[in-house]
Amino acid sequence: MTGRQTIPAVTDSADVVILGAGPAGLTLGNLLLAAGIDCVVLERADRRHVQTRARAGFLAAHTVRVLDRHGLSDGLHRRGLPHGTCEFRTDGGRFRLDYGALGLGERHTVYPQQDLVTDLLTHYLAAGGRIRFETEALTVDDAAGVRPTVTVRDPEGRPCRWRARYVAGCDGRHGAARRSLPAAARHQRDHGVSWLGLLAEAPPSLDAVGYALHARGFAGHMARTPEVTRYYLQCERGTAPDAWSEERIWDELGLRMRTADHGPLHRGRIIHRSVIDLQSDVMETLRHGSLLLAGDAASLPAPAAAKGANLAVLEAELLAEALIDDLAHGDPGALDRYSPRCLAHIWRAQEFSHWMIQLLHAPYASDGEALFHESLRRSRVESLRTSRAHQEWFAENYVGI
Ligand code: APR
Repeated sequence: MTGRQTIPAVTDSADVVILGAGPAGLTLGNLLLAAGIDCVVLERADRRHVQTRARAGFLAAHTVRVLDRHGLSDGLHRRGLPHGTCEFRTDGGRFRLDYGALGLGERHTVYPQQDLVTDLLTHYLAAGGRIRFETEALTVDDAAGVRPTVTVRDPEGRPCRWRARYVAGCDGRHGAARRSLPAAARHQRDHGVSWLGLLAEAPPSLDAVGYALHARGFAGHMARTPEVTRYYLQCERGTAPDAWSEERIWDELGLRMRTADHGPLHRGRIIHRSVIDLQSDVMETLRHGSLLLAGDAASLPAPAAAKGANLAVLEAELLAEALIDDLAHGDPGALDRYSPRCLAHIWRAQEFSHWMIQLLHAPYASDGEALFHESLRRSRVESLRTSRAHQEWFAENYVGI
């Protein structure tokens, strides 16, 4: 707030103010509510947007266990689909990894994130949880103290303030929690690769997660539901989401997935497009006084290995445990343990996502450096294709969190 603007009066309070109604914020809200902790979720979007926004869809076994533990998994057990196979398509042919039978023997559950978020929200409201939609957090103030405040813009556009004992920043990479922290607190990497992310109104074309490695660029295939499939196409940085016609999209997917050798793709209307610049970042610590970070606000893994939503749920459970130990059991050290516990998992996920990015993407350049990178990449693919030990490592990290 500038000097001239009056600081809005504190109009509401909660022991824990949660910013963001995504997987992290709503999992945290449910767990705190169940433990009798006074909390509220402040969400800038309206309820319809929250419940329909298509994002991730591959839940790790650990994520299912967390949701099982807290009675939040009915929907995913009714409608989720087990998934345990990857198919790699290369210029040397294709090979499949039944990762569900390798490593820890864990499979993904394919369950669209909008369905999971709807389940979490429904459960939270049924348990009497407080949430304010169309309420955008603008700043988090006095986080270093013991009575932080959150200035928000309410649905009528009026500024008002919430007072809290703790603020949980679950509002993603560009939310108010991150904005209130120094930029130096962020470790980041731009992988120099961009994807055109597509949702097609078409049934899956493979019974596996498809990774096509091609000199023209990467292409990916991930089931979402029996009627909708997620595709990715590596594209030049700066490509606009609507730059490619649907015909060009399907032709390029066919080329890169080598449909001439492996069979056609089920085509359908492209119902959502976005361009994703593959970037990763991690906040150096997830605790800044009375402000705690979870989910994308804490770290952003590149989407190559479907880690984001799974880290969000894991962090939400660890943060709930720490807040409950602090607020209900008087353990002041609990919150100091939160950040190192999460960062161990975050960096394991970041390392694997980085390895996947190096595996999936041929370099655009053709200088000596790029040719060396390309030879390394081909060697990684060949090792994954032929080495059982490498396949066990892949399976453990691909599904694990
Ligand atoms: N004030 C209030 N709400 C906000 C603000 C703000 N200033 N900024 C963002 N939000 C809300 C968004 O509208 C969204 O509902 O915070 C929520 C953040 O949700 P996600 O982006 O889903 O983040 P998170 O819960 O951390 O889940 C992380 O899930 O979306 C998948 O794979 C994706 O890695 C991602 C993972």
